[in-house]
Amino acid sequence: MSKIRAKISGIQGWVPPYILTNKELETMVETTDEWIMTRTGIRERHILKGKGLGTSDMGAEAVKGLLEKTGTKPEEIDLLICATVTPDMIFPATGNIISDKAGLKNAFSFDINAACSGLLFTLITASKYIETGMFKKVIVVGADKMSSITDYTARETCVLFGDAAGAILLEPTTEEVGIMDSIAGTDGSGRNYLHMKSGGSVSPPSHDTIDAKEHFVFQEGQPVFKFAVTRMADVSAEIMERNNLTADDIAYLVPHQANLRIIDATARRMGVGREKVMINIDRYGNTTDATIPLCLWEWEDKLKKGDNIILAAFGGGFTWGSIWVKWAY
Ligand code: UT7
Repeated sequence: MSKIRAKISGIQGWVPPYILTNKELETMVETTDEWIMTRTGIRERHILKGKGLGTSDMGAEAVKGLLEKTGTKPEEIDLLICATVTPDMIFPATGNIISDKAGLKNAFSFDINAACSGLLFTLITASKYIETGMFKKVIVVGADKMSSITDYTARETCVLFGDAAGAILLEPTTEEVGIMDSIAGTDGSGRNYLHMKSGGSVSPPSHDTIDAKEHFVFQEGQPVFKFAVTRMADVSAEIMERNNLTADDIAYLVPHQANLRIIDATARRMGVGREKVMINIDRYGNTTDATIPLCLWEWEDKLKKGDNIILAAFGGGFTWGSIWVKWAY
């Protein structure tokens, strides 16, 4: 019997309408468009405005769009997994709330938190459910309202992040397409460099933690940068080598969008030219779990069946991973 693989059979993104430009940030903190562009490659990012709106609202929009464009009924979905670091609440899972808002009556849902590698870890997990043969339609959502944990008085971090969501439909196939191979890794000692200090069980929310601004992203940029440059390049090269893929075989690299300099270093290590790299960090910034689906969504029309695509990410934790996908449509 032929092996069952998980193929990507649809992709949809959603970004909130409000655009926060570098020019507007110049009026909020001591920064310049020039500094942000040269150090990160970001020009603008989208921000979710509106009382009572959270990550699940963006995720649900992406899922509804995905169902519509793929002609899928909500009740056909067996499982929805949401990758996020900005859940609506600590519990229940944001995936549950997205399923409810999108009308997925027959799906069970849960969340995965692996920071900026979350979307990759979730795709890997979801593909294993499909490979068992028991699950026919699985949705992976990557969604983050990073503005909810960003301190807009801290210039080191507030220029980096944006809000967005993406949704991916996975289905079984016995053709030689889909998720072909994957690598994932973690190193928990990296938690010191990128985290949110309070709000969890070690340091629950209190007046003191709020006064100390401990409910925002904390990052030591330089060590994270060094880790990211080597790890994302290494893991991308490793998945190519172990599958005997050369740069000529690769149609696209889809890197996590955290910093243009990290993306360029990864492409150089793989020997892949800029024309084969999906880059939209200039318009969205770092949307954490949504970066990779937003790229695939924007490049969807250019992709052809059989294209070899390498997805690569790294993030807080530390976490890292890569996936070799053969595009299925
Ligand atoms: O996806 C999650 C994983 N996270 C990442 O991938 C982030 C990895 N790190 C980075 O991308 C970079 O480290 C940053 C973009 C965060 C920072 O760039 P950098 O080249 O590492 O800058 P730096 O932190 O070394 O700061 C250089 C200078 C400092 O001033 P002094 O000490 O040299 O006087 C900062 O205070 O730039 C200053 N600075 C800024 N200046 C203007 C920091 N942020 C800003 C700013 N505008 N927004």
